[in-house]
Amino acid sequence: MNILLIGSGGREHAIARQLLQSPLLSKLYVAPGNAGTAEIADNVPISETDISGLLNFALTNKINLTIVGPEAPLVLGITDQFESHGLKIVGPNREAAQLEGSKKWAKDKMVRYGIPTAAYETFTDPEKAIAYIDRQNQFPIVIKADGLAAGKGVVIAQSRDEAQAALNDAMVSKKFSDAGATVVIEQFLQGEEASIFAFTDGKTVLPMVAAQDHKAIFDGDKGPNTGGMGAYSPAPIVTPEVAEKVNNRIFQPLIAGFQKDRIEFKGILFAGLMIHNGEPIVIEFNARFGDPETQVVIPRLKTDLVTIFDAIANRKLDTIELEWRDNAVVCVVIASKGYPDSYEKGFAITGLKEAESTSRWIIHAGTKKNEKGEIVTNGGRVLGVVGQADELKKAIDNAYEGIKDVRFDGAYYRRDIGAKGIR
Ligand code: AMP
Ligand code: GLY
Repeated sequence: MNILLIGSGGREHAIARQLLQSPLLSKLYVAPGNAGTAEIADNVPISETDISGLLNFALTNKINLTIVGPEAPLVLGITDQFESHGLKIVGPNREAAQLEGSKKWAKDKMVRYGIPTAAYETFTDPEKAIAYIDRQNQFPIVIKADGLAAGKGVVIAQSRDEAQAALNDAMVSKKFSDAGATVVIEQFLQGEEASIFAFTDGKTVLPMVAAQDHKAIFDGDKGPNTGGMGAYSPAPIVTPEVAEKVNNRIFQPLIAGFQKDRIEFKGILFAGLMIHNGEPIVIEFNARFGDPETQVVIPRLKTDLVTIFDAIANRKLDTIELEWRDNAVVCVVIASKGYPDSYEKGFAITGLKEAESTSRWIIHAGTKKNEKGEIVTNGGRVLGVVGQADELKKAIDNAYEGIKDVRFDGAYYRRDIGAKGIR
């Protein structure tokens, strides 16, 4: 099978490595990919949002299956385009991708289908929004830009002033352009977060093992939020009982509701959860795999990933049973100094080969090869060191042992990835 994988992050490098273990794979292309995917597959220099470029490539290169990593092409309707040309693709169509593309759309569906989520209201008028906040008079309160804002559209306002500033940024100064014209204001939830993904073909839902992300830049979950500074799986906060509730109260009702409303969601469901006293509540849904959670979930999968993706694209997921390794996996992200704000690029990275072993993968994110053939930094999140072991503590040690070998100017990483899972 010829497969085209779209994206250029750590998530895609991890998916690519797993796909390569399948006997069903003939040729793997990654568009646009990074220096890590270039070593194991053919990188194709087409951007993830160039839908017609990707479509032309798939048609001329006899691609049998396309897998979409990030959300942007989904929201742009890549699935509709590919399917209208008879191409098989894993990812929801434009309508269903609103689950991630519009927070209002997603919240309205959750309420309609009885899925537990924080109480909320939506606004397009900043004066009505602040009046609502005054009526609630409860802080913190959460203000979210409706559309895609690259993970920066959520503000947890601790006071009226902070709430007013967030509303101004989104609705008046248009910090997120049109994505902030509508805002969702919701109740602040207490608890501990976890991420659970599920494979779905629109009829059958197969939840994956849980992971926990570390969103904040500094140790102890301090400082501004990032795309994710590390992750680990399993996440002990997700007990078997919690996982069952997530399936029965969240994934199954969502897909059943979509079927009733004739919305076909085919691809990866990502439930971002708050867990409080063993009760899971949805913070948000995404329409794709998470990054860096994928780096710790996918290596635990025993079932052939090409077979699963093929079953999704052909709407035959009921024929699949997932099998998982009973191990622990930890990913520590190494970022560029300055991230998540501005940072420099182009620093040479050394020690990548030395850090790899059978139980330790170096996953590339913001990397590229320069004219001299050196691998250099090319983004905020540069690499993930993924350690595997039979238990969490050893997996953490394994990942941090690998970090010692990897060097570049301004390399920064958190020292406490996975620690929450041991406490
Ligand atoms: P989101 O982009 O919706 O995942 O939000 C980013 C982060 O903001 C989440 O991972 C949470 O840490 C936090 N957050 C979002 N909504 C809430 C909420 N209702 N209560 C508490 N924290 C929240
Ligand atoms: N790590 C969170 C996300 O991918 O959105």
